[in-house]
Amino acid sequence: MALPFHTEPIVIAIDGYSSCGKSTLARQLASCFNCIYIDTGAMYRAVTLFLLDNRVDINEVTSVEKSLDNIHISFVRSGGSNITYLNGVDVEEQVRSLEVSQNVSEIAALSVVRKKMVALQRIMAGHNSVVMDGRDIGTVVFPNAKIKFFLTADDNVRAQRRLNELHKKGDIHIKLEEVLTNLRHRDMIDTSRKDSPLRQAEDAYLIDSTNLSIEDQLEVALQYIKMKISD
Ligand code: DC
Repeated sequence: MALPFHTEPIVIAIDGYSSCGKSTLARQLASCFNCIYIDTGAMYRAVTLFLLDNRVDINEVTSVEKSLDNIHISFVRSGGSNITYLNGVDVEEQVRSLEVSQNVSEIAALSVVRKKMVALQRIMAGHNSVVMDGRDIGTVVFPNAKIKFFLTADDNVRAQRRLNELHKKGDIHIKLEEVLTNLRHRDMIDTSRKDSPLRQAEDAYLIDSTNLSIEDQLEVALQYIKMKISD
């Protein structure tokens, strides 16, 4: 499917809570419309990995700021998915580790980190049509995006979905309770931080995926896009 509004680039912003299916929907839409997909969560995860590996004290803003000059993040498309690179090294697996997941929200709450990531996200999008998912895309990164989604789902359902993913990857010892606790902790930090907290943009379309399959969710999103572009 091609975007029917090719004259000017279009931004599809997808925000929402952790493990709501944002990246699944973003990937599907990028593929439908043959445009770039940028997973901004992976960028905060890459920063977290760097700071952990280099034992940078995150309470020392100056040290974090200095470290940011040594962090270069890029994505390489491979077989329909995006691989995250940190300083030229494939870190796709490492950025999804539990250790990174347990620390990323604190790091994503730092204004110095956000300032740099937001600037980079805008550069990465350039003047292309793009699907971007995260927590502040429709509110901060691209407040003028024509199409905005806000995804939510029951947290037990989200935790179960995340657990299934982790089990598939071979992390068979992780328990539902652990995943749920991490998820709630991240939601709490993401929604309560001072700098660009997670919230639904006024003009974002809410999708509650609690009872939706992946296919249903895509269908709902496509219907909305069709309606929006024929406005
Ligand atoms: O989407 P994710 O779980 O990979 O995101 C990891 C963390 O990064 C999550 O705690 C929220 C944060 N994040 C953010 O603050 N802003 C974004 N645009 C994307 C992610």
